[in-house]
Amino acid sequence: MRSTWLAKLLTAACVAGAFVAAPAAAKNLKFAYALSTNSHYGAGADAFVKSLEADLPGKFSVEQFPNSALGGEREVLEGLQLGTIDLAIVSTGATVNFVPATGVFDIPFLFRDLEHARGVLDGDIGDKLLAEFSKRGLVGLAWGEQGFRQLTNNVRPVATPADAKGLKVRTMENPVHIAAFRELGILATPMAWPEVATALQQGTIDGQENPMSVIVSAKLPQLQKYLSLTSHVYSPAVVLASPSSFDGLSDAEKEAFRKAGAEAVKAMRAYVDNVEKSGLEEVQKAGMQVNKVDHAAFSKALEPVYPQYHKQFGKELVESIRNAQ
Ligand code: PAF
Repeated sequence: MRSTWLAKLLTAACVAGAFVAAPAAAKNLKFAYALSTNSHYGAGADAFVKSLEADLPGKFSVEQFPNSALGGEREVLEGLQLGTIDLAIVSTGATVNFVPATGVFDIPFLFRDLEHARGVLDGDIGDKLLAEFSKRGLVGLAWGEQGFRQLTNNVRPVATPADAKGLKVRTMENPVHIAAFRELGILATPMAWPEVATALQQGTIDGQENPMSVIVSAKLPQLQKYLSLTSHVYSPAVVLASPSSFDGLSDAEKEAFRKAGAEAVKAMRAYVDNVEKSGLEEVQKAGMQVNKVDHAAFSKALEPVYPQYHKQFGKELVESIRNAQ
């Protein structure tokens, strides 16, 4: 008796289900990055979300975690590997410790200008290095951008390598950068980004280096007096996904994620183009003293480090990037 009643109920439910399919709940995705929502990373994340929603309406609900809310970039990369974070934008300063080959882009004075860097990242070399992420439990969706890194400090304007000597400067936890700073006689102090503001406030470091995109969006003029336009290294960023969120997607969904990554890159580059034009005036208004730099002298002072880079990444690769037109 009871089983007949249950059978009827189940049949009714199946019939109803055939006609009224409940809408599938959107899958929640966590998107982490180190900077504020009004930074180039925020612009990239917004463009990603917009593109994904346009291509796969209602399928995913992306929650953004700006300002290192889920940890420094190292923790974010670990979170992507573990599947506790689904999406992220990070710098190569962090990826070099997970995917060592990406460190080649961190070699000082490798790229002439933004156009040169973008051409390499969008070409075969960029594609090959993006594919390397999959060997380390990460999915590289697209190469993004921060811009050229500039030196800021609270002690003096830096126009020549001699001026830089002895300054205590926070660097990313990036051995390629650290080797160069040490060669210049800078007291390179590797530190995760979330600790930098406090270290600057407390004076445990004199300075730091980052592109205009970061100097402006992280309001560094409130913490630093001198900005020296060293442009010592181009800083790519990368849009990453966790294999645990990405691998199970259909081909069409994977394509939509890659397209969203490409949209994020467009937004980041547009932000960088804009801040490279307007940023100097903005930081000067905020009280920073800006000075030009003898780039040739810096590049010459770094010549002794090049054999080390050639050994690490292969002279042929380094030279093919440098000479790319
Ligand atoms: O300096 C760094 O660590 C990075 O450039 C930052 C600010 C975290 C953005 O990726």
